[in-house]
Amino acid sequence: MITAYFHKPEHRGQMLHELPLAEALDLQLLLTKNQETQFPVFAQDIWPNCEIVTITSINDASKILKAKKLRWFHYPLNAAGRGKLIAQTLGKPEAPPFKFPITYNNRFNFGIFTLLSDNEMLVCVEPWKKVPLGQYDFVEDKSNPPNRAYLKLWEALCILNQYPSDNDTCIDLGASPGGWTWVLAHNGAKVIAVDKSELAPNVAQLNTVTYLQDSAFALDPKKFSNIQWLVCDVICYPERSLKLINTWLDAGLKHLICTIKLQGEEDWDTIRALKAIPGAQLIHLYQNKHELTFIRSC
Ligand SMILES: C[S@@+](CC[C@H](N)C(=O)[O-])C[C@H]1O[C@@H](n2cnc3c(N)ncnc32)[C@H](O)[C@@H]1O
Repeated sequence: MITAYFHKPEHRGQMLHELPLAEALDLQLLLTKNQETQFPVFAQDIWPNCEIVTITSINDASKILKAKKLRWFHYPLNAAGRGKLIAQTLGKPEAPPFKFPITYNNRFNFGIFTLLSDNEMLVCVEPWKKVPLGQYDFVEDKSNPPNRAYLKLWEALCILNQYPSDNDTCIDLGASPGGWTWVLAHNGAKVIAVDKSELAPNVAQLNTVTYLQDSAFALDPKKFSNIQWLVCDVICYPERSLKLINTWLDAGLKHLICTIKLQGEEDWDTIRALKAIPGAQLIHLYQNKHELTFIRSC
C-alpha cells in the first residue's frame, strides 16, 4: 500500500516521529510504501491507497484521470508545468475560501494527482480530507465573533460534518471572549459558556447563551442533564485535557471537541492515549497553531 502524507513544513520533525520510515518527496509531502495507512496527528491531509501510474503524454494522463469520473486537484511536485497542462484538461474541485457550513456537493468529489517525473503520476482517488489538502480557509465574519478562534470550531465541525442544532445544549469550557460560543449559538444551540473571564458583550447578550463564571475543572458532569456537545478551548497541559475528556466521555457525552494545547516539546504519551480513545480523532487543524484538536462524535 502506498500512502502520501501532506503537512505544514514546520511539522516535518513531528511527522517523522510517527512515520520514521517515510520518504520525503518535498518539504510538505511524505510517502510510505508497504505500510498500512497511519494517522499522524500533524498530517494536514492523507492520500491513502495511492497508485503510481505510467503515462506517455499529457493526453494519456488526462484520459486515465477522466476515466475515474472525478474532479482533480493537481499538487505541483515535479514536472509542475506538465502537471498544470494535464490539470487544465480536467474539472477542478471547489476551491477555498469556503462558506460555513460547507455543503459537500459533487464539486467536492475529487481526487489528487501529482507527477513524480515526466512519465510517472501518483494518483489518489479518495483523499482523507473533504477539501483539497485539508486547507479549510473560510469566508470570514469580521464583525460578529470577538476573535478568530471561531475558525477552529468551524473547521472541526466541517471535518465532522455534524453541527449542533436548536435541539441541542452545548457546554463551552474556556469560552471567553466567546468565539466558540458565538458559533454554537449562531447554529441555534443553547450554550452554557464557562470561564473565569467574562464574555464579550455581544455574545453574552445572545438569548440562548448562559454564562457560568467557574473553573472548567470544577464542573461535575452528573449535575448537567441533556447535554449533547462539549467543546473546550481551555489553556492547560495535555494531561489535564485528557483527564477532562475522559470524565465527560464517561458521563456518556455524544459530541466532544477539545483543543489540546502543546507546551514546548510534544507529550507523546498523552498524544498516544488521546488517539487510543475509541472513535476519537486527534488532528492538527489547518487553523491550529501550537495545538492539536481532539474530536469525538458518536
Ligand atoms: C484560548 S482562550 C478561549 C477562546 C474561546 N474559545 C473563544 O473562541 O473565544 C482560553 C480561555 O480559557 C480560559 N481558562 C483558562 N483556565 C480555565 C479554567 N480552569 N476554567 C475555565 N476557563 C479557563 C481563559 O480564561 C481563556 O478565556
